[in-house]
Amino acid sequence: MYLIFLLFFAASYSMSLSSADSVTIYEDFVQCFKNVTTISDIDLSDVVLPRTSISFTPTLRAYIRNARFNTSSMPKPSIIIVPRVDSHVQAAVICAKTLNLQLKIRSGGHDYDGLSYVSAVTFLVLDLSNFRNITVDLNDGGGSAWVQTGATLGELYYRIWEKSEVHAFPAGVCPTVGVGGHVSGGGYGHMIRKFGLTIDHVVDATIVDANGQIHDRKSMEEDLFWAIRGGGGGSFGVVLAFKVKLVTVPKTVTVFRVDKSVDENALDMVYKWQFVAPRTDPGLFMRVLLSSPTQNKTSTVNTKLRALYLGKADDVVLKMAEEFPELGLKKEDCKEMTWIQSLLWWMNHVDVDKVKPEILLEREPDSAKFLKRKSDYVEKEMTKPELNRLFQKLATLDRTGLVLNPYGGSLNVTAVNATAFPHRHKLYKIQHSVTWPDAGPEAERLYIGNLRTTYNIMTPFVSKNPRSSYLNYRDIDIGVNDHGADGYRKGEIYGRKYFGENFDRLVRVKTAVDPDNFFRNEQSIPTLPPNRR
Ligand code: FDA
Repeated sequence: MYLIFLLFFAASYSMSLSSADSVTIYEDFVQCFKNVTTISDIDLSDVVLPRTSISFTPTLRAYIRNARFNTSSMPKPSIIIVPRVDSHVQAAVICAKTLNLQLKIRSGGHDYDGLSYVSAVTFLVLDLSNFRNITVDLNDGGGSAWVQTGATLGELYYRIWEKSEVHAFPAGVCPTVGVGGHVSGGGYGHMIRKFGLTIDHVVDATIVDANGQIHDRKSMEEDLFWAIRGGGGGSFGVVLAFKVKLVTVPKTVTVFRVDKSVDENALDMVYKWQFVAPRTDPGLFMRVLLSSPTQNKTSTVNTKLRALYLGKADDVVLKMAEEFPELGLKKEDCKEMTWIQSLLWWMNHVDVDKVKPEILLEREPDSAKFLKRKSDYVEKEMTKPELNRLFQKLATLDRTGLVLNPYGGSLNVTAVNATAFPHRHKLYKIQHSVTWPDAGPEAERLYIGNLRTTYNIMTPFVSKNPRSSYLNYRDIDIGVNDHGADGYRKGEIYGRKYFGENFDRLVRVKTAVDPDNFFRNEQSIPTLPPNRR
């Protein structure tokens, strides 16, 4: 399946734009952009970047987060638009639509398969990295924030922390992830069991539609507001900003980490984890990481459990002694800290007193690793022999891992159609993961092959008909094996995996708000075929 994708891409390189084509596109685009806006020539050179601009390559590379797509042979956009104000975004939409060019929207660039900045067809990139204003208002109900989509999660956490240590926001634990893709695709972090998904806290949004018009929640209609909470960015419009409700957290929270080798009964721990982690106190989130033996270290699977408890260490130690003795949690394993420090700890800073929260503001431009991710949802606990088979196989693979994220708690109380994100009532989610250091097709074949192996092993134990996937763990493979399906039929293949029954409503919304399918990418929501409208 992967080979087909690569061949598809390779063929597309030869069809990629000549520089003459890209000059024509630039000239036509600039003409349109000037007609639609009041931009001066001086400002224009910072906003619309042709391939010949000295800023083109640094701007493109700044938010490429997967090194597989950072090579010279990867197709490049004809133009990068770096808007400064809303009207630039409106003009970008109007002009790209007028010239019939595909517009890729990029906020933080963390799309695992690079859909926000690479494509086999002629395309433009709309880079929202200047859209990073955040306004926190603690007096609005229990606290709220307007956050522009080019901001990072780290910036949002930092701005909240500047005002209050007991206010927080439930979203991902990687601070460089962009708000635009993360929130529109669902979003979760280490408080998911207590507070649900990130989208469960979105109360308003502003969006530029396919006609270049700006809407807020009131004027966009509830259907579209429903769709952009989990239905993914890039299918419905350019989200400019989200308004989110903050949550309150205790002044002291606890984190702990327990690492076990196979000799220390790691298998028993992981087996029992499946029963405890999705059912225990919603204030407790325990993630398990299973990884193949890293070079020169051990010969068995590494098992790491990392946890956040929204409370004191004594309480969680007592709780675990009762519910999860296999963990063997001791007070010495626990660290009490503030919520913002817990984020630093999840970023792998062991001594959080020595790290300043300002580190959350670091965007780490132009830093990318070679990687591939896939996802799964588990509805029924695996047996010990089944887990054992997985452990045995994982021990033979290099650099491959599975991250198990417990669900339950708040996720169970919300209906699966409350937002576009459908996978709420599951036991846990798996992220299949492989990250490697070397460039080149050989390494890619080897490591992605490893990932496929664990994905295949898990087939009997994960959701079926369809096998579900998390949109924010973008996986281009899941739409490839389509036996020639195109348009709506192809969209239905990946669409049902990402959105389950919510796919039908998403298609209806898409057809209503963007009937010409201007906002599209390789895995966007399709419009209904004309004979079904
Ligand atoms: P990017 O800019 O690449 O956009 C992703 C998609 O959204 C693209 O299709 C893009 O077109 C679209 N889009 C972006 N901005 C838009 C806008 N303003 N309007 C409309 N469409 C827009 N997830 C999670 O839930 N919890 C986690 O803890 C993590 N952790 C994590 C760590 C790392 C290192 C990576 C690389 C990824 C994650 N993720 C994650 C996954 C992450 O949530 C997902 O990749 C998001 O889509 C990333 O959003 P960005 O804006 O950074 O990506």
